[in-house]
Amino acid sequence: MSSPPKQQRPNIGERTMTLKAVPFFTQLSDHELDLVRAVATEKTYPKNAVVLTEGEAGDSLYMIQAGKVKVFIGDEEGREIILKILGPGSFFGEMSMIDKQPRSASVTTLETSTFLVLQHAAFEKCVEQAPTIGNMVMQILAQRVREADRKIGTLALMDVYGRVASTLLELAVYTNGKLMVGEKLSQQDLANMVGASREMVNRILKDLSDRGFISIESKSITIINRELPPSLS
Ligand code: CMP
Repeated sequence: MSSPPKQQRPNIGERTMTLKAVPFFTQLSDHELDLVRAVATEKTYPKNAVVLTEGEAGDSLYMIQAGKVKVFIGDEEGREIILKILGPGSFFGEMSMIDKQPRSASVTTLETSTFLVLQHAAFEKCVEQAPTIGNMVMQILAQRVREADRKIGTLALMDVYGRVASTLLELAVYTNGKLMVGEKLSQQDLANMVGASREMVNRILKDLSDRGFISIESKSITIINRELPPSLS
């Protein structure tokens, strides 16, 4: 399914531009940015490539420069739960890099993606010389725990209809004045995010569309009324 990643050191001009474009790094000074740039390696993966596998050892942090990945956990039967879709400016792989335990989830690319990769020793060096970097990783970890808490609440307390509705709202962003889920998500992906079958998700989307709450185009869903109902009509 995946071919080995292309690995290269980008030139400094390219690296400067790339890091400046990553929101995570906008709070860093030029000196701190230089520290990261000097020790990171760039890797490009094609679409549908496996970047990390749940349960395997690993000690690298991946910063997404371009592209999109899905973070998921699965079982032997091939069923999966998508924990998060991450795009440019996000990072992953920090957990094993920090606690040296096996990878907590798998990560695959949804499109051709380029990462800046920092190994544990390089990360430690950066944090030693620029503690802001460590603080920022901690902030993002705290945000992820909050999001995971919300997700546990949603999974435990809402029925599938409510889970689909709340996931659509979570993914939606304002684009040209419209609240849209622009991710190229299949109904199976959505089902894997809410822990339901594709057929059930299809029925719920159709119901929401028939009732005028959403409109479904080929590549996106527009939320017409944010007050999505909690159950089937
Ligand atoms: P690590 O455990 O090293 O490898 C898998 C990565 O997936 C993990 O680090 C995190 O970066 C990421 N990850 C795991 N769980 C979540 C989550 N709930 N939300 C976002 N990212 C996650």
